[in-house]
Amino acid sequence: MVTIKSKREIELMKEAGRVVGLVFKTLEETLKPGMSTLDIDSIVEKTMLDNDCIPAEKGYYDYPASACVSVNDTLIHGIPSSKIILKEGDIVSVDIVASYKGYMADACRTFSIGTISSRAEQLVKTTKEAFFEALKVVKVGNRIGDISNAIQSYVEKHGYNVVREYTGHGIGSHMHEDPAIPNFGKAGTGSVIEANTALCIEPMVLEGRKDVRVLPDGWTVKSRDGKLTAHYENTVIVTESGYEIITMYEGEQ
Ligand code: MF3
Ligand code: CO
Repeated sequence: MVTIKSKREIELMKEAGRVVGLVFKTLEETLKPGMSTLDIDSIVEKTMLDNDCIPAEKGYYDYPASACVSVNDTLIHGIPSSKIILKEGDIVSVDIVASYKGYMADACRTFSIGTISSRAEQLVKTTKEAFFEALKVVKVGNRIGDISNAIQSYVEKHGYNVVREYTGHGIGSHMHEDPAIPNFGKAGTGSVIEANTALCIEPMVLEGRKDVRVLPDGWTVKSRDGKLTAHYENTVIVTESGYEIITMYEGEQ
């Protein structure tokens, strides 16, 4: 069931979104070679707690950390570790969910560590652009399949693939609500987009083949072919007249 949010609920989600943005701003300013993915987790957790938010991923289906931190061929759900050290040229996706008074905002950025290859740069850029392509069809009366199709078409046009096993989703007082928002699909299908709903639109893109595998830790999802991956996500509130992205910081490009 898709939930329609009240004004108050949307205000609480916006505060969670503001803190998500603040975390990204902080990471943008501090990520550098030599840091571990656990260092990133600590920054995420501290920034959220200092701003009256709870890192909602911790304990979600027993997930052990405050952030999903996924390097290079890890697409999603990378568990932070003191043994995974970032090096120049890496790309690292940080996927986080803040809860403010029980209301959530969820977003992901793929950051560059120092100078990255043009191949990595192209992948990261296309993944982000796929999100903004999808935004163009976020309109009351359009359908979820329009979003899915926009992501898939844009990504495949650039020679990459979208993941099939994981999707975007609704959000609110639960991290994952209806509707599921696949990264692939047919325009004109799926449920109708309604005002005052909240959507997490999240292109998860593979440089090579679309196949993924889950490591024995039960979480870490990697590309099967070992090629690069990227992820970009925002929480978007659908309004009568359009939409509002609630998880970007002011001045974020
Ligand atoms: N934030 C992820 C998403 O985009 C979900 C993370 S799973 C968790 O939906 F267990 F880490 F919370
Ligand atoms: Co999400």
